[in-house]
Amino acid sequence: MAKLDPIAEFREDHRKVRDGLLDIIKALKAKDVVTARQILGNLNVLVGPHFRYEEETLYPTLRTLLGEYVDQLIKEHDGVIDTARACATLLQKDTLSDKEATEASNAARAILIHVSNCDGLAILSERLTPEELDHLGTKYASARAAGVPLLDWAATIR
Ligand SMILES: [Fe+2]
Repeated sequence: MAKLDPIAEFREDHRKVRDGLLDIIKALKAKDVVTARQILGNLNVLVGPHFRYEEETLYPTLRTLLGEYVDQLIKEHDGVIDTARACATLLQKDTLSDKEATEASNAARAILIHVSNCDGLAILSERLTPEELDHLGTKYASARAAGVPLLDWAATIR
C-alpha cells in the first residue's frame, strides 16, 4: 500500500472538513437543504477513515505524550458523532423551519470547533519517532482503503 505523510494528510483532511462545514452553514443560511445534505454526505465519507485512524492508531500512539487526556479525545468523538447524526437526520427533510435550520447550523459549528481542536494534535505528532510516524502513515492509508463512512463505522465497527 502506498505510504502517506500522516501529518500532512491529517491537516489536509481538517482543511476539507473545515471548508465543508462552513459551506453547510452558508447553504443553511440560504435555506438550500439539498446542498447542505450533499456536503454532509461527502464529509461523512471523508471523516469515517479519519476518525477510525485517530481512534485505532493515532490516539493510542499519542498516549505516551498525552496520557489520560486521550480518553477525553474519544469522548469528544462521541459528541461529534451524536451531533453529526442529529444533523444528518435534520437534513433528510426537504425543507427546514428557521428553528431547524439554526439547529443544523449550530451542529455544524460545534463540529467545526472539534476540527480546530483536533488539528492541534499535529503539532504533538511532530515529536513522534520516524518509526511511529511510519506506522501512522500505514494505518492511515489502510483506514482510507477500507473507506467506511463515519456514521456506518460508528454504528457497526466502532
Ligand atoms: Fe481529526
